[in-house]
Amino acid sequence: MTVAHLLLQLSVAGNAARNRMVPPAILLILQLLFAALGADGASSFTFTNACQHPVWVGALHGASSPPLARSGFYLAPSATSRLDAPSSGSWSGTFWARTGCAVDSATGRFSCATADCGTGDVACEGRGPAPPVTLAEVTLAAPGSGGQDFYDVSLVDGFNVPVRVAPSGGGGGGDCRPASCAGDVNAMCPADLRVVAASGGVVACKSACAAYGSARYCCTGQYGTPATCGPTNYSQVFKSTCPAAYSYAYDDASSTFTCSGATSYDVTFCPGS
Ligand SMILES: *[C@@H]1O[C@H](CO)[C@@H](O)[C@H](O)[C@H]1NC(C)=O
Repeated sequence: MTVAHLLLQLSVAGNAARNRMVPPAILLILQLLFAALGADGASSFTFTNACQHPVWVGALHGASSPPLARSGFYLAPSATSRLDAPSSGSWSGTFWARTGCAVDSATGRFSCATADCGTGDVACEGRGPAPPVTLAEVTLAAPGSGGQDFYDVSLVDGFNVPVRVAPSGGGGGGDCRPASCAGDVNAMCPADLRVVAASGGVVACKSACAAYGSARYCCTGQYGTPATCGPTNYSQVFKSTCPAAYSYAYDDASSTFTCSGATSYDVTFCPGS
């Protein structure tokens, strides 16, 4: 057992003890020890482009989380790039792949065929993607807290590129399995949801909510609770191709993953190829 593992166990014991009202000072000392010895929560994200085509990664921080060093960058096929996570506090954010990007020679504006963030630049600067887009969503526990990270792949806003989010290193509690949508939903996309490029290929698949805007497909209004908004014939198409991804807003049971003690999260685009 490594020192890190021992401290991880102490920290888990600390969490259990918290429920039994152990003095906060002792827990604080445990947490400081834990942080000082580097047994932190995940400290970085590694992005890999396993697609045959380039992608332009987008990164958006949650409203109460600080931005990362880069909010958008180019990733060539087979390339890997890393972003550090903040060294304190919990952090949440979203990552996605943009495709078919180019700079307009007349205006100098950068834009993408899918998941464009609308800045006219490779950096997304706090702006989210235009759907349809496959989202990788991550919430990291604060470093040293011994808490759990949450992560998922979501097709709630549609699909453009297959994505996998996998914890790596460490690995204490939670099941730490990869969250993934490795299948090509574009190939299975119902005709009425397809986004077709000028070349004729299907480049993205809309959510039924985006295509029809109905309360039933969007899980709003009278369908605004998990009990009243179940799967639909459209969400089932997504689910059959990607069983471990969110296929509609309340698809939590099979779509949310947890892990504690991972040192990094690997976000891979086109993980199946
Ligand atoms: C889903 O059901 C609606 C109406 O019930 C129908 O119009 C639509 O074609 C169906 N779509 C798919 C993909 O099965």
